Amino acid sequence: MKKLFVLGVIFLLVTAVFVVAVSGQPLRDLGILGERARERFNEMVKEDLEILQKNGFYQAAKYFRTIPEELTYWLQDFVGDYRVRVKLLALSYRNIGNLAPPMVAESLESFRTSLKLGDTPLPQIIIQEGDRGVEYLYVLPLRVKASCLPCHGPHSPYASSIEELYPEDQALGLALGSLRGALVIEIAPEALNRFASRPSKNP
Ligand code: HEC
Repeated sequence: MKKLFVLGVIFLLVTAVFVVAVSGQPLRDLGILGERARERFNEMVKEDLEILQKNGFYQAAKYFRTIPEELTYWLQDFVGDYRVRVKLLALSYRNIGNLAPPMVAESLESFRTSLKLGDTPLPQIIIQEGDRGVEYLYVLPLRVKASCLPCHGPHSPYASSIEELYPEDQALGLALGSLRGALVIEIAPEALNRFASRPSKNP
């Protein structure tokens, strides 16, 4: 009986170490991918502000709609594997096609709660099993920055164009620092492992 108990403890210890060993690396790599994707997103928003200045809201909106796809290609290059996608999702959406599915919605709710409590919302990881098998979802909170204000802020000069193009819009009049939505990276564990084993992570 005592022997069995000891064996049980050893088994538990071994599994615990194993879990930590598998979860530590993906955690760090998801963090790297998340930060790089966020930087790239911010650059693209800056490019879009130039389009907004030069060509007006319609052209800028057209460009914005291509951002998730462009970010996906960019991240596929960076990871060195195509089994990764980027989405921009929200609870209060501009385009209903970007409404967060239930699991991501839960993360967004918790980001909102953190902000209400005066805390900084931190990225969350969801493990999901779907048509493509197991995937990690890395959910990064996106807060309203100065660069978002022309199109999402309270005094947008484009309010009437926004209403025309997005009659159901719920993403205007937002205060600086409030929650805008999430940048979500969906990645297969195999793709993440491939990224981890690449000699250089700065192509
Ligand atoms: C040039 C105007 C413009 C700027 C600047 C802009 N956005 Fe948007 N944003 C849009 C448009 C247009 C959409 C809807 C895109 C679509 O139809 O899929 C959108 C959609 C989004 C979405 C997807 C969810 C939804 O509401 O449909 C997120 C998230 C988002 N924006 C975050 C941001 C953040 C964060 C910033 C600032 C860093 C920002 N945006 C700056 C125009 C802009």
